[in-house]
Amino acid sequence: MTTILAIESSCDDTSAAVLQDGVLLSNVTASQAVHEAYGGVVPELASRAHEQNIVPVVDQALRRAGIGREALSAIAFTRGPGLMGSLLVGVSFAKGMAASLGIPMVDVNHLHGHVLAHFIQTPGEPAEVPQYPFLCLLVSGGNSQIVLVKSYREMEIIGQTIDDAAGEAIDKCSKVMGLGYPGGPVIDRLARQGNPEAFQFAKPQIPGYDYSFSGLKTSFLYFLRDKLKENENFIEENKADLCASIQKDIIDTLMKKLIKAAKDTGIRQVAIAGGVSANTGLQDALIAAGKKYHWQVFIPKFKFSTDNAAMIGVAGYLKYQRGEFGSQDMTPYARTATL
Ligand code: KG4
Repeated sequence: MTTILAIESSCDDTSAAVLQDGVLLSNVTASQAVHEAYGGVVPELASRAHEQNIVPVVDQALRRAGIGREALSAIAFTRGPGLMGSLLVGVSFAKGMAASLGIPMVDVNHLHGHVLAHFIQTPGEPAEVPQYPFLCLLVSGGNSQIVLVKSYREMEIIGQTIDDAAGEAIDKCSKVMGLGYPGGPVIDRLARQGNPEAFQFAKPQIPGYDYSFSGLKTSFLYFLRDKLKENENFIEENKADLCASIQKDIIDTLMKKLIKAAKDTGIRQVAIAGGVSANTGLQDALIAAGKKYHWQVFIPKFKFSTDNAAMIGVAGYLKYQRGEFGSQDMTPYARTATL
């Protein structure tokens, strides 16, 4: 029996999960409310909060799984990409615990984790998993990429943002409307009550499968600035329509390139992953495209779309089975150019 403890600490969520033979037994996440007041993640505060949270989160994950430390076969951890200070907490903790228990460590690329979230199995709920090769639109606060997934370890980024990530653009638009951080859930909720055709913003014209969201964000900002000069209550009076319109533009941009990639590659297994994949408008658009183009689509459960250790555990389990272990001299990496 293989029992894996997984640790995720790449950004502002401290998470630990326990998996037995690839089946998830527990997944505990402590989110950091401290950043809300700043409208975005403050790296220094994130690493301090990880330091406070990591021991209780790991303890709780083991307790909920009913697993003692001595029963662990390996510790999987997020090595990168992410915030260096945040990663250092998880990586150092994983190293210390693995050394004290005399068990192997398995380093996991955070982005692989998001993609492999589709392979998380929970007891009594067998999930249908994508077949390789599949396409995955990975959209989060830090990433907007179309990934061609050839195997659990062979992933090729065929398109990506040249500036802001989709989640970053959503969060910035939320901030200028005074809707707080993170903006995704509130924009999603308000967008459902608004008219997506009410306002038009600049559409990015980027070749190939790449994205750009900074122009859209700036166009939104200037539009609001002009409207506020005419009517200081403009945002308040048009909140739902503003959210619906900006969300539609972002979804249309994301889907256009994903559809192009599916057409060009002939791949009909199409998944979404990352925090922005929780967006109900994006999920509806994927389902609609799936019907139109005869794709089989995969949408992660909400708790597995934002940062979580369960996805790191699955990725770690797949590597563990093939003996792909990490080592004590491994250091975290903030960025990766490739997957
Ligand atoms: O994957 P994630 O938890 O962490 C990062 O890697 O950043 O993604 C966080 C991002 C944030 O930008 C947040 O606003 C966005 O995911 N998000 C959403 C929704 N829920 C979270 N965006 C749109 N709609 C949502 N329902």
